[in-house]
Order: sequence, then structure tokens, then C-alpha cells
Amino acid sequence: MKLEQHFSLQTYNTFGFPTEARYFVEVFSIEELKEAISFATENHVEILFLGGGSNVLFTKNFDGLVVKLSLLGKKIVSENEKTAIVEAQAGENWHEFVLFCIDNDFAGLENLSLIPGNVGTAPMQNIGAYGVEIKDTFHSLQALNIATLQTETFLKQDCEFGYRESIFKRKAKNQYVIISVQFELQKAPHNTNSSYGAIQEILLQNKITKPSIKNISKAVISIRESKLPNPKVIGNAGSFFKNPVVPKSILIEIQKQYSEVPFYEINDSEVKIPAGWLIETLGFKGKTIGNVGVHSKQALVLVHYGNGKGTEIWDLSQQIIDAVRASFSIELEREVNVV
Ligand code: EPU
Repeated sequence: MKLEQHFSLQTYNTFGFPTEARYFVEVFSIEELKEAISFATENHVEILFLGGGSNVLFTKNFDGLVVKLSLLGKKIVSENEKTAIVEAQAGENWHEFVLFCIDNDFAGLENLSLIPGNVGTAPMQNIGAYGVEIKDTFHSLQALNIATLQTETFLKQDCEFGYRESIFKRKAKNQYVIISVQFELQKAPHNTNSSYGAIQEILLQNKITKPSIKNISKAVISIRESKLPNPKVIGNAGSFFKNPVVPKSILIEIQKQYSEVPFYEINDSEVKIPAGWLIETLGFKGKTIGNVGVHSKQALVLVHYGNGKGTEIWDLSQQIIDAVRASFSIELEREVNVV
């Protein structure tokens, strides 16, 4: 285990903020991971686990131990006639894992192509896009209990998945490190999900009537590339806020002024309203304040243009939250983890 001190995290968070960790270690095995946890326990320092760094906002230096999880490996665990169980270690890049599944002709993750981050952090927030969430194909995961250093298995029903939610963000927060994840994927013939409007448009343009999982993946990649900034070029953490779920009475109130407000039915009494619409409607889209701003093609994404500080993103997000509350009586919730 190679322990670093006063280590810059600038290249370890996709916002690109130059936060410093008091201690830093990159772990490549479960043994190293246990060693790192023991170091933090013995020295009474806080511990922060980092995957791809694509869902974190650093607003200050971290006065503890940052553990970068680089457990690698992916494999087909078992197969039957219809499905395959595929496993990846936590440090595998999410998109490369999706491509591995597609190359093996296993369906289920293609709509989640090009989502930044690593496999191990995907279940934490039940990542989702274009009509699919990982809970749809999730089978189980292995996690290390930080207190006991024992490995435990979580089945789907144990994870309490919800919209951008899981037990690991709530009851079990800071108690486990996810070390590997298994998915149950479908073998051919596949049922694909191309219900999302923009996917349909691309398939239509290319005259594809029976899309393969590769076709869907390519369509998703082109939609994401057209709307979402590449973190290698402009610092960002994807959607900064969750789409709020609100009582229908709030929607009805908004419709009085904006009949075009988009929404999705959740149940008889609640709807989900795209936060991007609320933010754009209030004039924030494309706005730059100092070194940060709201992305010009997707208002749900806050961006860092370089040389800025995490607090600038925090302040901008607070300004947006306040404006949305004042105009729509809706409380936006940050989706990223703030440190
Ligand atoms: N919209 C606007 N202006 C904007 C952005 C969106 O008016 O600037 C409205 C439009 O009506 C649009 C609707 O919002 O039709 C939905 O927009 P989009 O399809 O881009 O999706 P989203 O709701 O903004 C969510 C996820 C994304 C995911 C997309 C596609 C959350 C928090 N975000 O965004 O996830 O890629 O759906 O399924 O649920 C991420 O988590 O990092 C992420 C990018």
C-alpha cells in the first residue's frame, strides 16, 4: 500500500477541482483495501472512497484518507439458455463494462452507455438513463463491511433501490465499500428499450426498425455526446440535481403560467418535473458566473471552465435552488455528493 500525503485530487474528480487529501492511497486488491481501512481506524481519520470521481463536488480539502478503488476484473460468472450473470469489480470503468456486455451479446445495459464513473459506484445511486436503471438488471453485489472487514452479499431486494437512491446512500451510508457487482443480462433474442424519444429519432433517421443492442448503444452515445459536456474537456459531474417529484397541485399551479411544462406521471398524486426545464425557464441555461456555469445544452449540468473552486459551483447551485423555490415552490435536491 503506497500512502501519499497532501495529495492533489484534481485529476481524481471530473469537475477538476484541485482539492487536497491529507492522505491518499490507491488500492488494487481487497487486502490493500483492508489495510487502508485499518490505517484510517488506527489513526482516527475519516475515510472517503473514490471511484471514478464523477459524482462528487469537493468544496474544501479533505482532512482524512481518500481511498481510490482500483479493483479490476470482469467476467461471465454463469449462463443458461436465456440469461447470463456477468460480474465486474468496483474499479472497472462503467462504459467499458457496458461495451464488454454488448460484445458478448448480452442485453440490458446498452441504454446506460457512456455514463461516466466506475461499476462500484453505479448501484449507490442506481444510475439511470433513457428509460433504464441499473436496478432493472442488477443481480447482487459484494461489499466490505468497514467495521468488521467481512465481505457481505446484497441481493436486489436488500439494496432498496429508488430513483437515484439505494440503501448505500441512506441507512447503510459510510458502512460498506462495494467491491464487485453482478448483473443478470439477457441472451439473444433481445428485448430492447428504445422508447425514449431521441433514441427513436436516431433509429428512424438511420432507417433501423429492429435495433440491435449495438444500435441502441450507438444512439445513446450520440445523444449524450450532443447534450452532455465531456468531462475531459469541461469539468462537470453529469446531472447536478435530481428531477423533483412533486404533488400534482404544484404542477397545476405551474401550468397556469406555463401550459407546456413537461412532466412524467409517478402515481395518482405525484409527478416528476425535469429540473432542467425549471432551471432553463428561470434563465440560467448557458449562464457563466466567474469560472463556473450552467451548461448551454443541458441546464441540469453545472460546469467548471477551469481555475475555479468547488465553492463556486456550490454557490451557483444554491442560487438555482433559491430561485426555483421562489418561483415554483419546489425544493431541488443535489444529486452529487458534496465533500
Ligand atoms: N429540459 C429542458 N431544458 C434543459 C434540459 C431538459 O427543458 O436544459 C427538459 C426537456 O423538456 C426535456 C426534459 O427536460 O425533454 C428531459 O431532459 P433529458 O432527456 O435531457 O433528461 P433529464 O431529465 O434532464 C435525466 C437524467 C440524466 C439522463 C437523462 C436521460 C436525472 C437527474 N438525470 O436527465 O442522467 O441521462 O434523464 O434519460 O435523472 C446523470 O445522472 O448524470 C444524467 C445525465
